[in-house]
Amino acid sequence: MSFRPVFIAVVVAFGLIVSAFLVNRARPRVETDQPSAAFVRASGKCAECHVQQQYSVVHEYEMSVHAQKNVNCLDCHQGAESQRTKDHHGFVISTKLTAGNCRSCHDPIYQEFLRSRHAAPSWAAVFGQEGLRPAQVDFSERFQPGGTRRPAHPLTKIEGASATTSGCAQCHGVGRPNDDGTIGTCTSCHTRHTSSVAIARLPATCGQCHLGPDHSQLEIYEESKHGVMFHAQEKLLRLDAPPKTLSTRDMFVPTCATCHMSGLNGQKVTHDPSDRLSYYLADPITKPRPNHDRAQLAMKQVCIQCHAPALIERVYADAEKVVAATNEKVQAATDIMSALRTDGVLAGAPFSQPIDFVYFDLWHYDGRTSKHGAFMGGADFVQWHGNYPMLARTVQLRAQAEELRRRRGRP
Ligand code: HEC
Ligand code: HEC
Ligand code: HEC
Ligand code: HEC
Ligand code: HEC
Ligand code: HEC
Ligand code: HEC
Ligand code: HEC
Repeated sequence: MSFRPVFIAVVVAFGLIVSAFLVNRARPRVETDQPSAAFVRASGKCAECHVQQQYSVVHEYEMSVHAQKNVNCLDCHQGAESQRTKDHHGFVISTKLTAGNCRSCHDPIYQEFLRSRHAAPSWAAVFGQEGLRPAQVDFSERFQPGGTRRPAHPLTKIEGASATTSGCAQCHGVGRPNDDGTIGTCTSCHTRHTSSVAIARLPATCGQCHLGPDHSQLEIYEESKHGVMFHAQEKLLRLDAPPKTLSTRDMFVPTCATCHMSGLNGQKVTHDPSDRLSYYLADPITKPRPNHDRAQLAMKQVCIQCHAPALIERVYADAEKVVAATNEKVQAATDIMSALRTDGVLAGAPFSQPIDFVYFDLWHYDGRTSKHGAFMGGADFVQWHGNYPMLARTVQLRAQAEELRRRRGRP
């Protein structure tokens, strides 16, 4: 037997392989690296494996509006602009998903979110400008003055990284800076795979972060008539009604989203929940916001879909009196603290003396709570979680201040 035909066959085969390789290399990268989204739709490739491993992920996705509208796994999981990717069972997917993966289809909403306090200011409240690009700081400051150009919160150093990572950053990470240059996450309210407006409209969704003694919005809502009515009638509400046509026939009882974000009866949906706020209630001393009149009108425009003007004006007038009275009480405590510092009686780092905590809790817990309670129907929070502890802590603060002065010989 001669080797010649075998040799020729091998050479020809090798030539074919090389030319196939060269032709293939000349094709656009995506075509060779990435089976298309259409391929995933046709074959269900991602779901085929993942339904075995994480049934919940695939099931949640299948119930979503995205699944109905043919938005599939790869549409979200492919690398968006500036994202790092990795090979994954014949696909190329992003290693970390951000608001950037939603932005590709929902850019106007992303832009609105960027202007909100849920974006950069949320992060800066804890970490200051750390991780934010100068352009991001400048942009946010145009819409939320003083929200982003500020130092890290002193508690982050004192309590340490583990508390900050598993505590503060879990809530304030709604506005975290991402490696791809985008800010924040959309899934805090919509979840990863349901992408649902029904879930975003639930009080419990906002209550993941908006609860506790320093911002008891969830607890206030639960005790308000609105919260009671919501629980009594939740099943009658159309929580999944399309946002563009949402009316009081769908939502005749308000949740957090109704007042702060929804477009009820033809109003506009907003992803900037500051749009309808007229005061800075979270501050020690509350001042009106720059857009006070327009914002207050916008919120009253929501109330008026369900109430008569007299009730709304009464709520605002009473709440504004609580704001003024709280300001006076907090100002009195602030004056005592400033005098201790200027007289050299109180020195040292923040949060290093017992009196620092009395003062902080006085405005940060009691003061805020009474103001939030007054606007959102939480009588117990105005009184027993607000004004009463504010009174008790004022008495304590005075006694401790006198004691400190006596010890320093500066009465
Ligand atoms: C051949 C089976 C298979 C296919 C097809 C497949 N995956 Fe996976 N996937 C896995 C396995 C196994 C893991 C866990 C180990 C790993 O990361 O590879 C995983 C993990 C993941 C993770 C978590 C990765 C991480 O590091 O946190 C994501 C996200 C993911 N897959 C998305 C997808 C998407 C989107 C598609 C379709 C474009 C897809 N997968 C196709 C088997 C598959
Ligand atoms: C609307 C966009 C979107 C769609 C559609 C989508 N995902 Fe995801 N998925 C996400 C996001 C966001 C995350 C969180 C990723 C992160 O933390 O970086 C995620 C996480 C995952 C994870 C990791 C889950 C975990 O808890 O560890 C897997 C696996 C996954 N997706 C698979 C899939 C599969 C399979 C499909 C299609 C059936 C799919 N995804 C469709 C947005 C989406
Ligand atoms: C490939 C494009 C695409 C991507 C990527 C995408 N979406 Fe969507 N999304 C859509 C389409 C299309 C609809 C349906 C719009 C409609 O019917 O008006 C939709 C609808 C929605 C809705 C409304 C659902 C409802 O119940 O009415 C939400 C919320 C949503 N997307 C959130 C997200 C989030 C969060 C991400 C990122 C994790 C994301 N989307 C990524 C295309 C996309
Ligand atoms: C349970 C979620 C959660 C945790 C944990 C949390 N925060 Fe907050 N924080 C919020 C919410 C919600 C608000 C908005 C309150 C409001 O407007 O009434 C807020 C408001 C603030 C504000 C005032 C708003 C501003 O921009 O100045 C500061 C400052 C702040 N947080 C710092 C921190 C620091 C520092 C930590 C950790 C030591 C922390 N937070 C932990 C949810 C949280
Ligand atoms: C993942 C945590 C998280 C979730 C979920 C969340 N928020 Fe917030 N929210 C925050 C933080 C943090 C702040 C404080 C931002 C700042 O001013 O520093 C905030 C601030 C706000 C503010 C005050 C804005 C301002 O200008 O003072 C409103 C109103 C608000 N959120 C409404 C909502 C509503 C309504 C929902 C649910 C649909 C919601 N939030 C869900 C974390 C969250
Ligand atoms: C603080 C919670 C929260 C965050 C964060 C959030 N959303 Fe929403 N989103 C909502 C609520 C609540 C609604 C429904 C408003 C209503 O009642 O009609 C909504 C509605 C939507 C809709 C449907 C709007 C329409 O007009 O059809 C889309 C799409 C959407 N969000 C995408 C996003 C994207 C993309 C991001 C991130 C950039 C994001 N959301 C971040 C709470 C949030
Ligand atoms: C009936 C309408 C309504 C409902 C329901 C409602 N709020 Fe409010 N909320 C208000 C009003 C009014 C204010 C004060 C507005 C102002 O400053 O002019 C307010 C203030 C706030 C603030 C204070 C922002 C600051 O300046 O510190 C936050 C945060 C907030 N609400 C979150 C929530 C959350 C979370 C829920 C659900 C658990 C909720 N709200 C339910 C109407 C409502
Ligand atoms: C989507 C409809 C809806 C919106 C929007 C709404 N409310 Fe209500 N509100 C209700 C319902 C329903 C009740 C219970 C009425 C009853 O007792 O019959 C209620 C009850 C109240 C009550 C208690 C009345 C009483 O004497 O028992 C007050 C106060 C109130 N709302 C204030 C407001 C304010 C202020 C706003 C705007 C910031 C607002 N509401 C927005 C539906 C709404």
